[in-house]
Amino acid sequence: MKKYKIAVIKGDGIGPEIIDEAKKVLDAAVLNADFGFSYSEYLMGGIAYDITKDPLPQETIEGCLNADAILFGAIGGDKWDNLPREKRPESGLLRLRKELNLYANYRPVKVYEELAEASALKSSVVEGVDLLVVRELTGGIYFGEPRVYDSKKSYNTMVYSKDEVKRIARDAFEAARVRRKKLCSVDKANVLEVSQFWRECVEEVSKDYPDVSLSHMYIDNAAMQLIKDPKQFDVILTSNLFGDILSDEASMISGSIGLLPSASIGGKVALFEPIHGSAPDIAGQGVANPLATIASASMMLRFALHQPEIADKIDKAIQIALKDGYRTKDIASFGAVEICSTTEMGSIVADIVSKM
Ligand code: IPM
Ligand code: MG
Repeated sequence: MKKYKIAVIKGDGIGPEIIDEAKKVLDAAVLNADFGFSYSEYLMGGIAYDITKDPLPQETIEGCLNADAILFGAIGGDKWDNLPREKRPESGLLRLRKELNLYANYRPVKVYEELAEASALKSSVVEGVDLLVVRELTGGIYFGEPRVYDSKKSYNTMVYSKDEVKRIARDAFEAARVRRKKLCSVDKANVLEVSQFWRECVEEVSKDYPDVSLSHMYIDNAAMQLIKDPKQFDVILTSNLFGDILSDEASMISGSIGLLPSASIGGKVALFEPIHGSAPDIAGQGVANPLATIASASMMLRFALHQPEIADKIDKAIQIALKDGYRTKDIASFGAVEICSTTEMGSIVADIVSKM
């Protein structure tokens, strides 16, 4: 039987808890399939630093490169906040993205019908939202040189090359083409040269996609529009930093940041992770929502392992669990029939998927 090799990185905080539930669901989903998974665990983040003094040990990079896909939880925590930047947990993740050339980050935002009331926004505003943030992930100000930290003056550099912008723009146009054919590129071209350049590159690529309608929006306006009328968006294309911010904002449309999955693609092996962080404040309490990670596992099946039927089953099982009224604490007060722990939610989804 075919066994896909999954590199599993649990990380810090709630990372281990949510990954365990995603694995539970993955295994349940393939009970009757003609393939399975073999998992290998690797260290990254604070835990990797504690054990090896390196937030991204070489063994992890190699393990990931040898896998069919990477399933990742979360990294970071106050405990490591005072380390030099290159030793911080976040540096591990950023280096992994760079090493594996995971330049395209897909963050879909869908509002589950059952949870429209859970949003901080009015349900009439969020009902039916279905958008995709395509975030450039290996360039921009996250990686730009020069970068200097000094007690007198500090700076970073937001830099993009033509090739970097055009390749992510192409991916975003491709995504829009199989959706509602609307692409909104978000920048700050009224102030930043790098954004003016970004806009010109996106325009250039758009010539190859006459069937997709392209618009441009400044980041400040986009942040506002996302709250005012999120339904206007289909695909949002943006740079590394703006995408980081906009996707956290967009998660509130869906009701909880504990619901949003992501895929990071570009190199030989793709990585799948929830968009949320390691939430050290609730780690170990069994209250974290595992659905974002379970949905990330579904994206892994769809985009890396090319098993869309099983991915569909997992997505459906999540929906059924919500429809049946199961809620973790973060989405608890909205139509809850039963408040469940992290492991209970994982078991419920696993149980549903195993019977499909
Ligand atoms: C994310 C996270 C990361 C980022 C952190 C943990 C480095 O916020 O994936 O959105 O800023 O990209
Ligand atoms: Mg973020």
